[in-house]
Amino acid sequence: IPVDPFDLIIFGGTGDLARRKILPGLFRRFCAGQIPSETEIIGAGRSEIGQQGYREFVASAIHEFSKREECSICGLNEFLELLDYISLDAQGERGWADLAARLHPGRLRAFYFSVGPSLFGDLAERLAGGGLTDAGSRIVVEKPFGHDLESAQALNAALAARFNERQIYRIDHYLGKETVQNLMAVRFGNMLFEPLWNSQYVDHIQITVAERVGVAGRAAFYEKAGAMRDMVQNHLMQLLCLIAMEPPAKFEPDTVRDEKLKVIRALDPVEPHHIVRGQYTAAEGVASYREDVDNPRSRTESFIALKCHLSNWRWAGTPFYLRTGKRLRARDSQITVVFKDAPHSIFGPEAGRHRNELRIKLQPDEGITLKVTIKDPGPGGMRLVDVPLDMSFAEALGSDADAPDAYERLIMDVIRGNQTLFMRDDEVEAAWAWTDPVIRGWESRGDAPKPYDAYSAGPDDAAMLIRRDGREWREIG
Ligand code: BG6
Repeated sequence: IPVDPFDLIIFGGTGDLARRKILPGLFRRFCAGQIPSETEIIGAGRSEIGQQGYREFVASAIHEFSKREECSICGLNEFLELLDYISLDAQGERGWADLAARLHPGRLRAFYFSVGPSLFGDLAERLAGGGLTDAGSRIVVEKPFGHDLESAQALNAALAARFNERQIYRIDHYLGKETVQNLMAVRFGNMLFEPLWNSQYVDHIQITVAERVGVAGRAAFYEKAGAMRDMVQNHLMQLLCLIAMEPPAKFEPDTVRDEKLKVIRALDPVEPHHIVRGQYTAAEGVASYREDVDNPRSRTESFIALKCHLSNWRWAGTPFYLRTGKRLRARDSQITVVFKDAPHSIFGPEAGRHRNELRIKLQPDEGITLKVTIKDPGPGGMRLVDVPLDMSFAEALGSDADAPDAYERLIMDVIRGNQTLFMRDDEVEAAWAWTDPVIRGWESRGDAPKPYDAYSAGPDDAAMLIRRDGREWREIG
């Protein structure tokens, strides 16, 4: 859907996120014909690189990070024409008059705060106080949205002092992933699953987000965050919401976010013995976590597994096992819904235990697998075997090189004014309200993370967490 020309201002315009994701993403949407050529994209930052320097910076970012090389040949110069740069001091006077002069009256203005959260308040104040925004202007903010409930409330208050919630777009890039949105399509587009989607039929649900990468290069941030703040409070929480929520009446921002919020509010506090934290050690030629962050005594977790429960009508009694970590065996994000045993086996105990299982693979190979039980072919009586009904999205639908990635989709949603895939203030705060006591608990107990070998499946205790309940994690990779 084409949009009218707009002004997009990226604070932190020369930062890492702008270079890797925002600018290459905008370029791809431009090549796809979704960004009109009268649009103005203004990078703002402390450095004094000027318009020409910025265009060179963006060109090199696109060469490095844009997925479609041929685009960088066909449309690059036209795209660079859209770009301008303003050197500006977020907390001082410098640059603000320049910025005001550059904006087009009557156009949609979107301000992307691709900077640390400590600057959110100052930027909001400068923009609104300086008359650079109107009621239609939009603010985009990134995670980490706070460090705990108190800081998240302070950030929300700083933004709310100047903007209303309809103008604020809090990004969790997992919500922009095609496959994550597909979770809703699978659940609410099919008759097949929803009647079984509850504790009467579901034994348990596993959510795994495993990464191969370590934390080198982000040490300072990660040491203060750890896996709980970096991944569970936001990305895994969003996956949990989408898998557990009630069907919203419509696919609209507040109907969807109301249902997600109810899930977060239904989460029970996590029992201390239902949490396993881990930290990777050197193996297979890569450094340990402690070496990566240059802190031989670090107690930050690079891995976490936990079991949680939802106290609501649909899910009471069904455990949810969540697991995420760095330097694991493979990059592999998946959700597995394991159904209960059939109430009675007509084949007798020798047929063994067979359970249906729906696995939704989010990345890297997107698809759905439904494990069904059939007869083992051949003579020998009624022996049963489980086979996968396998569907790879790429094979079924063809791979679409033009499909927008998470950031592209979310940025265009900002311009179109669609908040469905963005987190609301109360959602973020509820997620912190659940996360905070978990973290405080292990801090007050002085728990140290368990070591695990780099490129393994995480610490043994994580396997025990689920094995104690007579269950097993699904393989990573
Ligand atoms: C980010 C986290 O939000 O998500 C990173 O800060 C993590 O630590 C990243 O690596 C994972 O995103 P993706 O899209 O690669 O799964």
